[in-house]
Amino acid sequence: MAEALLTLEALRFDAGGHTLIDSVSARIAALRRTVILGPNGAGKSVLMRLMHGLLEPVSGRVHWSGGKAPVQAMVFQRPVMLRRSVLDNLTYALALAGVAAGERRTRAMDVLQRVGLAHLASRPARVLSGGEQQRVALARAWALRPAVLFLDEPTASLDPGASAEVERLIGVIAADGCSIVMSTHNLGQARRLADDILFIDSGRIAEHTPAADFFAAPRSAQAEQFIRGELSWT
Ligand SMILES: Nc1ncnc2c1ncn2[C@@H]1O[C@H](COP(=O)(O)OP(=O)(O)OP(=O)(O)O)[C@@H](O)[C@H]1O
Ligand SMILES: [Mg+2]
Repeated sequence: MAEALLTLEALRFDAGGHTLIDSVSARIAALRRTVILGPNGAGKSVLMRLMHGLLEPVSGRVHWSGGKAPVQAMVFQRPVMLRRSVLDNLTYALALAGVAAGERRTRAMDVLQRVGLAHLASRPARVLSGGEQQRVALARAWALRPAVLFLDEPTASLDPGASAEVERLIGVIAADGCSIVMSTHNLGQARRLADDILFIDSGRIAEHTPAADFFAAPRSAQAEQFIRGELSWT
């Protein structure tokens, strides 16, 4: 069995008088790509925020294998670019992360090169297309050299061409030795990218299996229904 990256122990999160995440226990494998699937409102985004530490659980805990949280990065559906050049967006993030001033520019340019965006380095980030901005957001996250990258529906606002580019980049980042935890509504994308599927419904885990098993024959009724429903209108 793959080594654990983090373990969720009976996590619970409440807000607005509702329990949004309930009794969630799971072992997320290191150096794999875990895709969180589930219907709208299932709790995917809340769960990722709990894993990342942006939210505190009401009870239960997130246990990192190394004993403490490693460097993590998160990318959302819509990239948040600063009103600066692409390069400065990266060097600013590196500065916040405590990277020495003399190293920021080289590291940022190196990452931009590796993702094929070096030619955009001096452009104002906000004038880029949505797809380009999302790739910059990924480059900015990757520049931090995270042990784990959280991606919350990273291609939901993108057209198929831009989505394919983002998927390719996620593959490159994963191959570089970064664990990936991402949510998506796109079953094709889940099939292409996932090693493991974590299927949640109404704040609970309905299924957590290797992707091949999930797509061959989901074990839970919820997942089976979800796959049937998604396929009927995609
Ligand atoms: N701070 C909050 N206060 C109250 N309710 C919240 C809060 N954050 C999320 N919720 C509710 O919790 C539920 C789960 O939200 P979440 O955003 O995690 O769903 P999701 O699975 O990511 O959905 P989607 O597929 O639409 O992105 C939803 O019903 C949402 O309205
Ligand atoms: Mg969400």
